Amino acid sequence: MRLTEDLGAWVARQRWYAGKSHEPQFRILDARPVVGATRYLLMDDAGSRPTLYQVPLALAASPPAMTDAVIGEAEGGYVIDAARDPAFATGMLAEMGVDVRRVTGARVLAGEQSNTSIVFEEDRHPTIILKLFRALHHGENPDVTVQRALSGAGSPFVPRFLGSIDAEWPDVGQESGVSRGTLCFAQEFLPGVRDGWAVALDAVREGRDFTSAARDLGAAVAGVHGALAATLETVDAGAGDVSATATAWRRRLTIAASEVPAVAYRSDAIDAIYRAALERPWPRLQRIHGDLHLGQVLAVPDDGGWRIVDFEGEPLRPMTERAIPDLPPRDVAGMLRSFDYASAVGGGPDAAEWATACRDSFVDAYVRSPGSVALDPVLLNALVLDKAVYESIYEARNRPDWLPVPLAGIDAALR
Ligand SMILES: Nc1ncnc2c1ncn2[C@@H]1O[C@H](COP(=O)(O)OP(=O)(O)O)[C@@H](O)[C@H]1O
Ligand SMILES: [Mg+2]
Repeated sequence: MRLTEDLGAWVARQRWYAGKSHEPQFRILDARPVVGATRYLLMDDAGSRPTLYQVPLALAASPPAMTDAVIGEAEGGYVIDAARDPAFATGMLAEMGVDVRRVTGARVLAGEQSNTSIVFEEDRHPTIILKLFRALHHGENPDVTVQRALSGAGSPFVPRFLGSIDAEWPDVGQESGVSRGTLCFAQEFLPGVRDGWAVALDAVREGRDFTSAARDLGAAVAGVHGALAATLETVDAGAGDVSATATAWRRRLTIAASEVPAVAYRSDAIDAIYRAALERPWPRLQRIHGDLHLGQVLAVPDDGGWRIVDFEGEPLRPMTERAIPDLPPRDVAGMLRSFDYASAVGGGPDAAEWATACRDSFVDAYVRSPGSVALDPVLLNALVLDKAVYESIYEARNRPDWLPVPLAGIDAALR
């Protein structure tokens, strides 16, 4: 097979391929033998910034059931996506130091988005989940830094962390000539969980009260913030941090105002809140979730509690920015916006009241729970606005019918 061409064509078809808006230009940066496979690192040089993809390939004698896992044919069989190959998947677990003697199977979790998750069974029960990062970055992935710290601190609000694998690859952009980053990590698999988005949608559609779940979520987010402040670095918000945040808020607002007339019309009022927020006392900066919404929390059926996952930060932000201390109220703002979205998407006669009750309960429980950080109302409002401004850009570009949702959020925050 013509490896670069076939591999490039396959990568360009994957959900996790991030360069959908340009014609890809791939080259193989690195190829290394690993247990059961060869790990290819494929660079896409087209697009606004070069992106490196992790694509492990295995050889199979017969084509796997999943035909979209076939990359090409080679002498003696088929070249397949090694993530679908249990030998390779189990090899990664073993490399992390996980005891794999009882592992009896591995399968890729359906509905993958930006990464590929593999679920392992021990004695026929799913017990371990491995997240294979497809886009690689220099520096440890925050998903690993943060979940390992929380799990190590005994936090009851995250799945137990099991291990991770790093790798080095050539990078002319680094002084040393190499980059080092995270390939994958594994954690305890929680059977029977549903994500908070699905649970909340059911509740709003059926007109069911969700305030008790929202309260538990507030306590979980507070607990996570407390554990992160105790285990990872924190810094006072200096003038430089405040002005960097102001720049980020205003950059987004300028983009939104140029694409969404309704935002342009409210731009001065939004900026007035930003200015007021910049004058307020700020909490210490620390590691946070960074992209918190109902889709990132899992409801455990047995104990009714929440587990928080996916600490990778906002996908569109450069990785270097995602791994620095940030404002804990940003997570609170993310969840507040998510309740609004759930009520708008779910609908129902009392959707607006449902969202208000959830938001109030969530904030009330957050501030009363151990670990929470002071919530200045003006700063929180600015963070809610920034989130809604971001959503307005996203909706204008991708789902114009949904634009009224962030716009209503902006109007509510301005009142
Ligand atoms: N520890 C876990 N136990 C059970 N399911 C999980 C676990 N971690 C993730 N999942 C499932 O995988 C989905 C995506 O996980 P996430 O970490 O958010 O990855 P992504 O980066 O693809 O969004 C979750 O919504 C959940 O359904
Ligand atoms: Mg996620």
